[in-house]
Amino acid sequence: MNARHHRHPLRAVISVDDLNNAYIDGSQKRLVSRAVRLEPHYSVLDYGCGVGRWTLWFAPQVHRVVGVDLSPKMVEAARQAADEAGIQNAEHHALDGMPLAFEDGVFDLVNAVWVLRYIVDDDELARTVEEICRVVRPGGYVTLIEMIAKNEPEFKEHEGDFSGAAVYRRLEQYRSLFEGCGMAMKVSAVSSASPLYWPFVAVRDAARRRGLPDPFSSLASSIVSLSLAGESLTAGLMQLLADRDLVRCRHRFLCFKKPEDDDTGG
Ligand SMILES: C[S@@+](CC[C@H](N)C(=O)[O-])C[C@H]1O[C@@H](n2cnc3c(N)ncnc32)[C@H](O)[C@@H]1O
Repeated sequence: MNARHHRHPLRAVISVDDLNNAYIDGSQKRLVSRAVRLEPHYSVLDYGCGVGRWTLWFAPQVHRVVGVDLSPKMVEAARQAADEAGIQNAEHHALDGMPLAFEDGVFDLVNAVWVLRYIVDDDELARTVEEICRVVRPGGYVTLIEMIAKNEPEFKEHEGDFSGAAVYRRLEQYRSLFEGCGMAMKVSAVSSASPLYWPFVAVRDAARRRGLPDPFSSLASSIVSLSLAGESLTAGLMQLLADRDLVRCRHRFLCFKKPEDDDTGG
């Protein structure tokens, strides 16, 4: 995906459908913004930064942002994107395994979106989560978006357009891994689950399959804006329906907070 779309930050990491990309990207960023009040003095680590979709978004809002990724090609694309955007406070590094090359508690926030599922080995995942939690300061945050499984973990040998293997794990597994590292769960929410946007896409795609003109093409961008604007009202309902298996909603947002040093946990 990166080789084909490295000049396009959303297509390289989300999908080839630009409207879906605008909606999903907007929905995810809204969740992070609502869960963590970003401060101008913050240092942020974006774990699994891809082509810089998040680092470029964090950079103007915080003091410093560091992106790390297993893939040197993704890192190169992110560096190039940051250079082209004239961003001075973002750096991108290829990962050289664990431990992470940062001191304890140096970041106010670690963001990891759509990354942990590519770590298919549970021990390696546990080690990665330990490292992510180690580099967050007391009082700092971890934000996470993942595809989750309802019951048993689901192994995907090939995931959509991506060639790598992935595991969709239960939400409780992520929760217990982070809580085992001393973090407290602050938010658990469905992500990209608008009851307006996805029916719109279903109608649009059905029309396309039948070779019919797209009935709502002129409304598309307004539907994205309306879906995003309405999410704070619709998210609770969608979560309730997803928890009762009445709608399928696999994208979950989790936000964890590391207790302050003087927090007795009471
Ligand atoms: C779907 S992309 C998401 C990129 C970015 N987080 C975003 O949301 O735009 C997944 C990224 O995770 C990276 N990745 C996979 N396994 C990783 C690991 N164990 N540690 C760090 N990055 C990893 C891949 O190289 C790829 O850039």
